[in-house]
Amino acid sequence: MIKIFHLTKVYPNKFTALSDITLEINKGDFAFINGQSGAGKTTLLKIIAAIERATQGEIIVKGINLNKLRRPKIPYLRRSIGFVFQDFKLLPYKTAFENVAFALEVIGMSRREITKRVSNALQLVGLEDRHNFYPLGMSGGEQQRIAIARSIVNDPPLLLADEPTGNLDAYISSEIINIFKNINTRGTTIVFATHNRELASRFSTKVITLDQGRRVN
Ligand SMILES: Nc1ncnc2c1ncn2[C@@H]1O[C@H](COP(=O)(O)OP(=O)(O)OP(=O)(O)O)[C@@H](O)[C@H]1O
Ligand SMILES: [Mg+2]
Repeated sequence: MIKIFHLTKVYPNKFTALSDITLEINKGDFAFINGQSGAGKTTLLKIIAAIERATQGEIIVKGINLNKLRRPKIPYLRRSIGFVFQDFKLLPYKTAFENVAFALEVIGMSRREITKRVSNALQLVGLEDRHNFYPLGMSGGEQQRIAIARSIVNDPPLLLADEPTGNLDAYISSEIINIFKNINTRGTTIVFATHNRELASRFSTKVITLDQGRRVN
């Protein structure tokens, strides 16, 4: 699903966020990217999602070499990758339902299909009774679950989750992890970034550990 060889990322201000990373994530994996704040987790996910470009090295996602991917093709790749952002990025003036529906409206899906898919996604994250709530009237854990529902509503084969339990207490964190496990069981490959080492080792057999931009395991 993802193959990375000797990846280096230098940001325009000359800061090297990732150095010489090599890794492989297979179809159906539930992989963790673990490392302290600043280790390069978000940078790595953004490169996999073609939000940022690699400076050096090879990166292949779903058989596509991202270095050779022409700019106009990027939106098509992005549609097959779900991304749960560290800061949710929910639209405050849209309800839970509308936030999840938005990406499907943009691609012109029928109203009936949208209603079916959004209802299923909200049910999967346990928010079936919150369709008409606005994000700001919901708890952090609930907002996180809207963001997860939005990321899976079009059934992407690959789901990238950036610190989705970062600001949640231990109980809610394990509920969120269980949602991801259910999604994984349905066949979706998951890459889950977290600074929480204990969480990573408890829930996954595949843990990629970063330290100051280098892979250390
Ligand atoms: N756009 C940017 N320009 C320059 N440096 C950046 C940029 N984005 C991130 N960095 C730097 O790259 C390093 C890695 O950042 P990144 O956001 O990938 O870390 P992280 O592991 O996700 O951290 P956190 O756990 O705090 O989210 C950090 O030192 C950060 O300051
Ligand atoms: Mg981050």
